[in-house]
Amino acid sequence: MALPNQVFVLCIFILVCRAHTTSTNNRQESMALLQWKSTLDSINLSPISSWSPANSTCSWYGVLCNATEHVIKLHLPEAHIKGHLDAFNFTAFPHLIELNLCKNHLVGAIPASISQLKALTYLDLSFC
Ligand SMILES: *[C@@H]1O[C@H](CO)[C@@H](O)[C@H](O)[C@H]1NC(C)=O
Ligand SMILES: *[C@@H]1O[C@H](CO)[C@@H](O)[C@H](O)[C@H]1NC(C)=O
Ligand SMILES: *[C@@H]1O[C@H](CO)[C@@H](O)[C@H](O)[C@H]1NC(C)=O
Repeated sequence: MALPNQVFVLCIFILVCRAHTTSTNNRQESMALLQWKSTLDSINLSPISSWSPANSTCSWYGVLCNATEHVIKLHLPEAHIKGHLDAFNFTAFPHLIELNLCKNHLVGAIPASISQLKALTYLDLSFC
């Protein structure tokens, strides 16, 4: 029977297209997170040291996405993050609802560009 083969080919085709779509949807978020990570100190002590382009961004520690693979939450309390927010590209996160960075080792000012987080409803930069 030819039908199972055709179904198989169709499934492969859908999988390849899906993989392509999901890898591009959050490229700006992914790049922004890796860029910020590169500015942090003593990153080896943090679970976010595992953030890597080799893995899907939505599987990264503390990163939550919605069904369209956009980053909607950064849940990173007590993640041994040491550094500042100056290099955090807030523009790349138009869908971010929650930013929780409490109990880390952040220093310096809160950049005015944090106002670019148009979808934000929860922000915690405290030493909770
Ligand atoms: C990330 O991908 C690498 C291989 O590319 C794998 O060894 C590692 O376990 C993955 N890490 C996570 C957290 O999934
Ligand atoms: C994911 O987020 C984007 C941006 O907010 C939104 O347009 C889309 O509807 C969301 N998808 C789901 C399934 O929540
Ligand atoms: C910040 O992110 C936006 C959206 O992805 C991008 O257009 C811009 O070039 C980025 N800015 C920097 C400094 O990387």
